[in-house]
This record gives sequence, structure tokens and C-alpha cells, in this order.
Amino acid sequence: MIALFRKPARAGEYAARAAVLGLVATVAAVNTGCKQDMGDQPYYRPYEPTTFFEDGRSNRPLERGVVHRAQYLDNDPLVTGLTQEEWGRFWSRGEKKVDVAAATPPEDRETSYGAPRFDPRPGQPNSGPAVFVTEFPFEITARDLAIGAQRFTQYCAMCHGPLGNGKGKIWERGYLKPTSFHTEPVEANEPPDYGQINLGFSRGYWKWDVRIPMRDVPVGYYFQVITQGYGAMGSYAAQVKPEDRWRIIAYIRTLQLSQRADVSQLPADVVQRLNAGGNQP
Ligand code: HEC
Repeated sequence: MIALFRKPARAGEYAARAAVLGLVATVAAVNTGCKQDMGDQPYYRPYEPTTFFEDGRSNRPLERGVVHRAQYLDNDPLVTGLTQEEWGRFWSRGEKKVDVAAATPPEDRETSYGAPRFDPRPGQPNSGPAVFVTEFPFEITARDLAIGAQRFTQYCAMCHGPLGNGKGKIWERGYLKPTSFHTEPVEANEPPDYGQINLGFSRGYWKWDVRIPMRDVPVGYYFQVITQGYGAMGSYAAQVKPEDRWRIIAYIRTLQLSQRADVSQLPADVVQRLNAGGNQP
């Protein structure tokens, strides 16, 4: 550069130097322009108004069905299958994370948390404090069951089968057979259950030496499995919103009842129809 500012020897040389200087200036200008565009792109801060959209808001409304993250406290009954007492135990131990799937050996039953480590039925060999809730966090109506049936068909039936016996299409194509929700086969050619575990018994509980049919497993455990996944099954937390997870569980309960209901639980008119020899109106 310095040489460019020496006294020019001839007029031609002066013009050439001017041309080089111009070129350098242009390149510099183009470069700077580029830098600014990249570093300072137009964007809106949260809640900043705009004239671009008709409603004047730069925030766009969420699409229907978006599943919110971190919208609830961890222990809000709607988003946890764990009892408040279990949360108490969890906090008092200063734990950082609930890990239901952790393959903690049964000797750690007392010091673990969030895992299916106690039999929820009193008087069993490994009975203990309630880890999972046994009640739904809201009243289940016919509409909830209808939504549950739809969501079950959409998100679970391809593996668990429309009847919940593990005879889904994905299993037919060679995937690990999911736990059946029933203790008796409910279809012809139904596959046996996995390993040494009795048909329709929870594998998660089995790991903790708790032998319990899925029918008797608390609803909170189902919620935990849908939310966190279990073994070969992934988490459905990002696809299925919490309310719908509970609705799916309510529908699974009806599937279980449909295969094994005590006549005394049926309404009188249904018993009458049954006694008359059929289930038709
Ligand atoms: C991709 C296939 C697949 C889908 C989809 C799926 N599951 Fe599963 N599920 C499995 C398999 C496989 C297992 C057994 C996992 C194992 O033993 O490692 C299982 C296990 C379970 C268990 C039992 C855990 C136990 O203790 O034995 C429950 C409850 C369950 N699933 C519920 C659901 C629900 C509810 C849905 C729908 C929201 C669902 N699953 C969707 C494959 C699936």
C-alpha cells in the first residue's frame, strides 16, 4: 500500500494506482456489506408488534396439537404417574432425575425411586409404599374413552395389537413382542410371552421380583411407560399430550375389562341380555 502513495513518476502510473485503490475500496465495501447482512438479520423479539401479519403480532399462533414442553411442574398430577409421597422421597434424597427404566437390582428396592420396585397390592412378598398413582387425574367420560381409543389405535396398536395382546403388525414383521395386557390369549395363534415371564405380567415389575398382571398394575405405571418408554419401546411424550396419555390408559382398562369382566360388575340390563342368550339388543 505504502508504495501507492509515493510521488507518481508519470501520469499513466498515477491513473493505474488510482484504479488499484478503487478496486481495493470496492472489495472492502462489498465485504463489509456481506458481514452486516449475515450478522444483523431481521428478526422479531418475543411479543414485538409487527405490521406484517394482520393480527399485528409477530408471534405466530401454535399449530393445533402442538405438545408443550416444560409447561407443568414435574409433579403436577397431570404429568406424573408418581404419587406425591414418591416425589417426597425423591426430593428428600436430593436426587437429580427419576429413572424408571434403570435396571437397579432388587437389593436397592429401598433406596431407588420412580421404579416399579414395590408390589402395589397389600400382603404380597414385596408389597411397599405406593410409587405410582392408582387414580386418573381427571374424571374419565365417554368422550375421553373415544379419544383414548383413537389415540391407542394411532400410537400403540401397530405394536400392541388392536386388542392389546401384543399381536400388532410390527411384531408380525419381527419386532420384539410387547407385553400383553391380558393374562389369557384373546386371539387365535397368539404368540407366547417373552422369556420366562407369564403372559400378561409386567416385565418392568418382574425385574424387581414383583409378579403382577398388567391388569392390576396402577394407571400411574402405564403413564410412566408412555412418557419415558420401557425397554425396546420408546417414549411417546413428544407425540401424545398428557391428557391423551391418560385417555389411552382408560381405553386399555376397557380392553382389559372386555376380556375379563366379572358378571357382578355389569349393569342389570346387560346381565339380562346375557342371560337371554346373547349380547345383541
Ligand atoms: C414400536 C412398537 C411399540 C409401540 C408403538 C408402543 N409400544 Fe409399548 N411396548 C413395546 C414393546 C416391544 C414392549 C416390551 C419392551 C421390552 O420388553 O423391552 C412394550 C411394553 C409396554 C408396556 C409394558 C411394560 C411392562 O412393564 O411390561 C406398556 C404398559 C406399554 N408398552 C404401553 C404402550 C402404550 C400405551 C403405547 C401407545 C402410546 C405403546 N406402548 C406403544 C412396543 C411398542
